[in-house]
Amino acid sequence: MDVITSAAALRDRLQREPHNVFVPTMGNLHEGHIELIRIAKPRATCTVVSVFVNRLQFGPREDFDRYPRTLEADCARLKEVGVDVVFAPQEREIYPEPQTYVVEPSDLQHILEGAHRPGHFRGVATVVLKLFNLVMPRSAIFGKKDYQQYIVLRDMVRQFALPIEIIPAETVRAPDGLALSSRNNYLSPGERREAPRLYQVLCRARDEVAQGARDFRRIELEAMAELARRDWRLDYVAVRRQSDLQEPGADDRELVVLAAARLGRTRLIDNVEIAA
Ligand code: PAJ
Repeated sequence: MDVITSAAALRDRLQREPHNVFVPTMGNLHEGHIELIRIAKPRATCTVVSVFVNRLQFGPREDFDRYPRTLEADCARLKEVGVDVVFAPQEREIYPEPQTYVVEPSDLQHILEGAHRPGHFRGVATVVLKLFNLVMPRSAIFGKKDYQQYIVLRDMVRQFALPIEIIPAETVRAPDGLALSSRNNYLSPGERREAPRLYQVLCRARDEVAQGARDFRRIELEAMAELARRDWRLDYVAVRRQSDLQEPGADDRELVVLAAARLGRTRLIDNVEIAA
């Protein structure tokens, strides 16, 4: 496994590997990330993983500075699972000058996560486009854990006609249902015990819709109320169309219920698809 830190060395190494598959990450890897690599590996002769905590996608009051950075442990795990190339650049390698040209995602950047994290999807889309240009993968894997991020990037690739296949991966969960996330490390033991409730509440909402309920607003409000009673601070619970994350009409069948809420200092997001 090659660990590469410069863009020039990356290009040089990948020139020999025109058919690589790419898994972008911010490191502090867990089984969710590793699952993306398992999906990637059989699809190409060269699996490339990037580890880069992208300042551009963090708000001024978000956790950029305290985001866990564990490159050594990450590389050990990546080697175990048979990754070929790790790209772990310093910030100056990705942003040698202020990034004044950016990707502005469509209206999607203003709803749900975007409404609570202004500029977040601009930062994500900009760095992912840049990483795509450096790695030039044939395909790239993204987790549905970050559902809106997957939709934003899928649409970016389609609208800019990038020759890259975007492959979604199912959310990997702890046995109690909590979606794996680097941010779970911030939870106190008590918060960790409470955290799976987010998934439970989403599953209940999913089951109601799957059984035919169509009063989405009531379902959202009940889910939010249940979490608020347990000291969660809610950003949103929303039933949306899978295709574009807009509000569903009565005839829409492919839905997803998404949520974001804070438990103490930790902001958790999760979602569950509904095939009604
Ligand atoms: P990061 O949060 O490190 O996640 C990297 C990839 O792992 C994303 O595609 C994310 O959806 C996926 N992932 C995280 N937890 C998962 C889980 N429990 N199950 C399945 N997949 C999971 O997302 C980012 O980094 C950044 O925004 C990035 C795309 C790298 C751009 O900076």
